[in-house]
Amino acid sequence: MRPIKALVLAGGKGTRLRPITHTSAKQLVPIANKPILFYGLEAIRDAGIVDVGMVVGDTHREIEAAVGDGSSFGLKVTYIRQDAPLGLAHAVMVAGDFMGKEPFVMYLGDNLIMGGISDFVGEFQKNKPNSQILLARVDNPSDFGVAELADGRVVRLEEKPEAPRSNLALVGVYMFDAEIFEAVGSIEPSGRGELEITDAIQYLIDAGRDVRAHEVTGWWKDTGKLDDILEANRMILETIDRDIRGEVDARSRVDGKVVVEEGAVVEGSVLRGPLVIGRDSRIVRSYVGPFTSIYFDVTVQNSEIEHSIILEGSTVSNLGQRMERSLIGKDVEITKSATMPKAYRFMVGDASRIEVP
Ligand code: G1P
Repeated sequence: MRPIKALVLAGGKGTRLRPITHTSAKQLVPIANKPILFYGLEAIRDAGIVDVGMVVGDTHREIEAAVGDGSSFGLKVTYIRQDAPLGLAHAVMVAGDFMGKEPFVMYLGDNLIMGGISDFVGEFQKNKPNSQILLARVDNPSDFGVAELADGRVVRLEEKPEAPRSNLALVGVYMFDAEIFEAVGSIEPSGRGELEITDAIQYLIDAGRDVRAHEVTGWWKDTGKLDDILEANRMILETIDRDIRGEVDARSRVDGKVVVEEGAVVEGSVLRGPLVIGRDSRIVRSYVGPFTSIYFDVTVQNSEIEHSIILEGSTVSNLGQRMERSLIGKDVEITKSATMPKAYRFMVGDASRIEVP
C-alpha cells in the first residue's frame, strides 16, 4: 500500500480556552505532561505515515519550537502558514500545493483518540472512497459537526446544528482524496464566518461522491474547552504506570499510579494517584490528589490540589482551601496573603475565570 500524507491543523485562536490561549497554542496544553498535539503526531506515525504538513497560524513559533522538523517523532514535518483562521476547509486550501494529488488524513491538533487512527487509515486505503469521516456518539451533538446516516451511508452533515438529527459527532480526523480541493473551493463561509470542512464534505455527498463513515471504538475528546481538557487528563492518567524517578522523602506517602519525573522533589506530602509530577517541580507539605498533572518547575507548598493541571513555572502555596478542577497557566502565583485586610487580591489576565467558595 502506498503511504499517504497527513495534514495536521495546529492553528486557530482557541477562544474557548482563554486566557491560556492569549499567550499559548491550545494544541500544546499538556495532558498527563505531554502536549495534546504530540498524541496526534504519535498516532499518525503509528499509522505508518511519515510526511506531515502542519498548518500553523499566529502561534507558529511555539508550535515549531515544540515539534521541530518532526524527526523526534519519526516524522518529516513541513510547516504551512495560514494567515488567518478562516476555517478547516480554508486550511485544506492552503495545503493544496503540499498535498498535490495524493490522498491524505487530516487531523485536528486538539483532538485525542484512544487507540490511534491506524484502523481508520487502513480502512480508507483498502476501500478507497473519496472521503471517510470518523464518528463518535456524544451527549451534546450541538457542539460538533453532526452526521446523519441511512443504511450505513452518510446522507447529511450539519455543523453545530440547533436540532441535531443524530448523536453522531464528527471527530476531528478525516480522510480525503484530491476531490476535496474542488469542494473547499466551492463552498461559502458559514454563520461563524469560516469555511467549514463539514460543508465541504456535504458538497462531496451532493456531488454523488463516495463518503463513508467509521465509528470510534475507544474514547475521543476534542480538547477545546476546560472541562474536556480535564476529562482527557483524567482518562490518560488512568492509563499510566507508576514510575518514581525524582526524590520522595521518607515522610511522604505515595498511593497508586504516580509518576514523579527526574529532578522533582516531594517532601512531607501525600500523593494519591493517578497523577504526574513534572521534572524539577517541588511538592512540599502538600496533598496532590487523583487526576492531577503538574508540569515542569512548579512549586506546590502547604496546599491541597486535585483533578487539575498546572503549567510550568507556577507556584501554589499556603492555600487555605483545596483547589480542584483548575487549569493554571505558566508562571502563575497563587498564595495566601500574609497582610491585612483579609481579602481576595487578584491580578488576572483577560477572559480569566475565578471561582471562590
Ligand atoms: C471542528 C469541526 C466540527 C468537529 C470538531 C471536532 O469544530 O468544525 O465539525 O465536530 O472540530 O473536534 P471546532 O473545534 O472548529 O468548533
